Amino acid sequence: MKGIVLAGGLGSRLAPLTEITNKHLLPVYNKPMVYYPIETLVRSGVRDIMIVTGGDSAGHFLKLLGNGSMFGLKDLYYTYQRGEGGIAEALALTEHFADGESVMVVLGDNIIQDNMTAFAQKFKQQKKGARIFLKEVKDPERFGVPCFKSGRIVKIEEKPKKPKSHFAVTGVYMYDAHVFDIIKTLKPSRRGELEISDVNNRYIQEGSLEYDTLSGYWTDAGTFESLYHASTLVKRLKK
Ligand code: G1P
Repeated sequence: MKGIVLAGGLGSRLAPLTEITNKHLLPVYNKPMVYYPIETLVRSGVRDIMIVTGGDSAGHFLKLLGNGSMFGLKDLYYTYQRGEGGIAEALALTEHFADGESVMVVLGDNIIQDNMTAFAQKFKQQKKGARIFLKEVKDPERFGVPCFKSGRIVKIEEKPKKPKSHFAVTGVYMYDAHVFDIIKTLKPSRRGELEISDVNNRYIQEGSLEYDTLSGYWTDAGTFESLYHASTLVKRLKK
């Protein structure tokens, strides 16, 4: 399985911090944010990792991460997303890198405590489709939210005003290579982006989306509140 870290976007919710740099280079306690999703992949046994970034500070990723030796990697791969086309558009840029294999995708602002190795094993046994990971949260309206019927997810609503469950769809996803065919058929959402929730909804329609619930801590770090929360969480865990 190949690994992908999505670290593009404007990070507009963190302006002015993101006026002159990329959100994923900002610190979360004692490390740049992008370290955490890379560590999540490496902990899960993924060795081939591509970083998708964009904007004016893309070169800083190369300077910071180099060939990934600080993570015990031999190489890191990079690609560049022009503009702000959304998470699914960024993922589409990695099709050539994935080269027909399945992918584990982690959003560059997600801080995940769970070791995903056992989940990756379950995904392998699943043989096809997608696997997503849920976490119970107090503010589901900020995220993709699953709607359940008899224990199955029947729909994912992106940032619903009235969430139908207390769960967030976290920013770690496992997909078979079919994901790239799905993205090619997507239409931009109201915010003008190709949404990852639309990808997941297609897998639901095809009856091949499975899920697990994370037991460790999880947070995003894309707003002032969550960035601060992420730093305190990492600090607390260090102790
Ligand atoms: C994205 C996804 C959302 C998901 C979240 C997890 O939202 O669109 O479905 O729950 O990441 O961090 P964003 O933070 O890009 O608005």
